[in-house]
Formats: sequence, C-alpha cells, structure tokens
Amino acid sequence: MLGMQERHQAAQTEHHERQRTEQSQEPQAQWPAWIHRPIAVVKVWRHGAQRPTDQARQTVLPKLTHRRMPRTIAISGASGKTGYRVAEEVLQAGDQPRLLLQEHSLVPEQLQGCDQHRLRLGDAAALDAALQGVDALVIATGARPSIDLTTPLRVDAWGVEQQVRSCERVGVQRVVLVSSLCAGRWLHPLNLFGLILVWKRLGEQALERSRLEWTVIRPGGLSEREEQLEQEGIRYSGADQQDSASIPRRLVARCCLEALNTPASIGQIIEITSSCDLEPIAMAQALAR
Ligand SMILES: NC(=O)c1ccc[n+]([C@@H]2O[C@H](COP(=O)([O-])OP(=O)(O)OC[C@H]3O[C@@H](n4cnc5c(N)ncnc54)[C@H](OP(=O)(O)O)[C@@H]3O)[C@@H](O)[C@H]2O)c1
Repeated sequence: MLGMQERHQAAQTEHHERQRTEQSQEPQAQWPAWIHRPIAVVKVWRHGAQRPTDQARQTVLPKLTHRRMPRTIAISGASGKTGYRVAEEVLQAGDQPRLLLQEHSLVPEQLQGCDQHRLRLGDAAALDAALQGVDALVIATGARPSIDLTTPLRVDAWGVEQQVRSCERVGVQRVVLVSSLCAGRWLHPLNLFGLILVWKRLGEQALERSRLEWTVIRPGGLSEREEQLEQEGIRYSGADQQDSASIPRRLVARCCLEALNTPASIGQIIEITSSCDLEPIAMAQALAR
C-alpha cells in the first residue's frame, strides 16, 4: 500500500510525463535556416563573449575566429607598376586599399572604385589627412625616368622622409618601403640617373631612424611577367647580400603584403630576387634561417 505522500508524488510524475508527451506532439515552430545564425549572434551578445551558447559555438564562433577585421592599407605610388599590384593584393587579401596619388596620376581601371587621395608629398597637411586612420602604409613611390636629375633626391629621399614624418604625426605605426638592391652604393651605373641609389638609401635611413615598425624591401630588377609565379621561389637575404637578378613586380607586391603579416620582418632590410629554380617558401621561414 502506498502512503499519502508516495501517492501524491506518483500523481505528479504522471502529470509531468503527460505534459512532456503533449508538448512533444505539438507542432514545433520551424525557423528558417537563415535565422539561426543571427539568433546565435544575439545570444552571444546578450550572454557576453565569455559564455557562448552551444549553438553560437558551433555556428558563429568558428567564423569569427577565422575572419579578422579588414585593415585599411595606404599605398603611395599606387599608380605605379608595383604600387597598383600592391593595391590589388590588398584587395585580394580582403583588406581596404587607400591609394595615395599625385594630381595627374593615372589609376588602372580595376582600382577606380578604391578610396583615392590626390596630393603632393610636400603638402604635410594633405598627407596627414590621407594617412589618418590607416593601419599601415606601403611606400611604392619612386622617381620616374626624367631629364630632371633632381627627381630621385626629391622623390626617393625627401618624398620618403615626408611620408615617414607624416606616419609619426598621425600614428601610423607600420610601414613597408619598396627600395632597391644596391641602395646606398655610389659606384653603380643606375646612379647616372641623379644618384638614385644614394638617395634611396637616405629614404631608407629616414625610416630606420623613425619610431615606426618598418620593413625595407629591396627588390632586384623589376619585370612585368605575371605567368607561372606560383612555382617561383624568392631568394631572401639581408642588406647588401645581392646585387643582380630580377623579380616580377607581382611577387614584390606579394612580399609587401607578406611583410605586413610577418612580425619578424619588422626592423629588417630584406633583399629579394626570384627564380623558378628556387622552392617557394614563406618569408617567416626565410627570416628564421
Ligand atoms: N625599375 C626597376 O627595375 C626597379 C628595381 C628595383 C627597385 N625599383 C624601385 O621600386 C619602386 C617601384 O618601381 P616601379 O617601376 O614599379 O614604379 P613606377 O611604375 O615607376 O611608379 C612610380 C610611382 O611613384 C609615383 N611618383 C613618382 N614621383 C612622385 C612624386 N613626386 N610624388 C608622388 N608620387 C610620385 C608615380 O606616380 P605617377 O604615376 O603620378 O607618376 C608612380 O605611382 C620604385 O621605388 C623603384 O625605384 C625599381
């Protein structure tokens, strides 16, 4: 014989069982698949990122951890043959390029929609405004061939220094400079064009003396070749180790982006040439050797 209390408990259990069975037979609200992710996001938001729901863990968090916020990367000399490729690589990486251009610079069709700032490098206020809020600057300016032999001094030395000073003023910490093999040499045929290699070294030194996180990329002779670059390896070396050989501009542009993503490249002068005979390796791997 069951006592009073036991009979009461048995009745309650039966009542709960019946309720559960009835609920499971009720038609369930079918949420469309697209609504699950926003709901999970809201749950994460409401409960705080420290306490994700299981659903959020499975659907939202893997995406959040794999996807970073797009960076804004300024490219000066973005109308040049290396500069526009840097901008393309920035887009390819899912970041936002900001093109720093001269008044008359021509921008390739595919970059027309990008954020553009037209200015003179000597105009400090305009340069500061153009660099405001960017995460990094890639300097791809360089003197174009000209009968004015002061152009390399004005672009490759003073022009770089003006950009460095502007980064310091507005707080852009990370800068990659495209310079050249043999920068700093006095005796070199390229110096027939206004001592360009001497002025390039002065530009590099402005960066080295700054408080910025800098990388100098010194490429060999630049080519326009775009074919079969995936199998082409890069010879990386420190300063003044290489003095010949070439590299396609596309690979230089990729190196600039790779430098931005390689902390070990900060404070380094990296010389690069390329060859199909070399195994492609990551910059970080080369720097660790
Ligand atoms: N050519 C080579 O074999 C070689 C080898 C090693 C290193 N480099 C160096 O690599 C870099 C890229 O070379 P590249 O041949 O790809 O460049 P590029 O096609 O000659 O382009 C030069 C860029 O610099 C800009 N620029 C020139 N004078 C300027 C000024 N006063 N103010 C602002 N911008 C100015 C140009 O703007 P505009 O379009 O308005 O003229 C252009 O965007 C350069 O520093 C170059 O010296 C070249």
